[in-house]
Amino acid sequence: MKSIMFILFFVLLFAQEPIDPIPLKIKNINKEKAILGKILFFDPILSKDKKIACVSCHKPQCSGADCVQYSIGVFERSDKPMNAPTVYNARYNCWQFWNGRAKDLKEQAMMANHDPEEMDMDKKTLEKRLNSSLKYKSLFKRVYNKDYITDDMVYDAIAEFEKTLITPNCKFDRYLRGDKNALSEKEKRGYFLFKSYGCITCHNGINIGGNSFQKLGVFIKDIKIPRGLDRYEVTKRKEDKYVYKVPTLRNIALTAPYFHNGSVKSLKKAIYLMGKYNLGIDIPKEDINYIEAFLKTLTGEIPEILRGK
Ligand code: HEC
Ligand code: HEC
Repeated sequence: MKSIMFILFFVLLFAQEPIDPIPLKIKNINKEKAILGKILFFDPILSKDKKIACVSCHKPQCSGADCVQYSIGVFERSDKPMNAPTVYNARYNCWQFWNGRAKDLKEQAMMANHDPEEMDMDKKTLEKRLNSSLKYKSLFKRVYNKDYITDDMVYDAIAEFEKTLITPNCKFDRYLRGDKNALSEKEKRGYFLFKSYGCITCHNGINIGGNSFQKLGVFIKDIKIPRGLDRYEVTKRKEDKYVYKVPTLRNIALTAPYFHNGSVKSLKKAIYLMGKYNLGIDIPKEDINYIEAFLKTLTGEIPEILRGK
């Protein structure tokens, strides 16, 4: 009875927090499939010129994002006006891409692979290349028990790999789990300000974002930034111009540059602009420092499947 009360107490305690910690271990992963997905994610054979892999734009050393404003795709193309978001914890996003045009990780992998700016691959070439590789033949046979590799299996395996890319146990998650000493007074003050200024109304839930579409510039009449691929491109509704999926703030200290067009280099500037654009206030310098200290506590562990990479 005592232990049930204890559990109930913790359930209630967490229920009051607008952010949930990332589980320490993920369940329901087909390990062999995820490892196959990892090999594919790192393999440039998936792109038309055989030079670009998924990892070319989603780098472990950039915490699953790219460290540049615009990534370089096949044939050195770089026309996409969008900054590569992180693939870490992407499994917790309700949709994929800045404008949510993919419903899940598998569909997203297919779209990235076909995108002429990214990998420019087609089903026929992909299947031909993989089926002529003895290595892939035997790897796919082990996981799918089929003699012919289809594009669908490729995206399925990549998605399984991406589902393992979680970054648990950041300082803030330890705090949420009850270790009140995990955060310094400065970081706690930052969390308090993050809630009280209202950042939390858009950046909340397990991914501290990823679960709603919101406008960039709620409080700005004429925003002077190019729109890029916003929600309007999906819905064609006028009010969806400048609307993007709220990005995750997990590992945010490691994924500069910021915003959909990667136009903001420093985290402090991103916090300041968020206040100005989306809350209609000039956040004082001192408070920006506190909020930045809090955001830095969101850096978690490197995904287990990538340790040593
Ligand atoms: C040339 C660079 C490039 C390559 C190659 C690339 N991506 Fe991306 N990725 C991007 C960019 C840029 C975006 C954002 C585009 C947008 O939202 O319109 C993105 C978005 C994503 C997202 C969505 C994340 C989110 O928060 O919405 C995932 C997941 C992802 N890529 C996985 C992959 C996988 C898997 C591959 C390989 C099949 C891949 N990417 C190949 C640049 C790249
Ligand atoms: C009305 C909803 C809303 C509010 C309130 C809000 N944000 Fe955002 N935030 C967004 C959206 C949407 C984006 C993506 C904008 C873009 O890229 O064009 C974003 C982007 C960011 C980014 C850049 C993330 C990245 O990966 O590029 C940071 C950092 C950020 N917000 C922090 C904050 C902080 C700190 C506050 C409070 C001071 C805040 N936000 C308030 C919706 C909001």
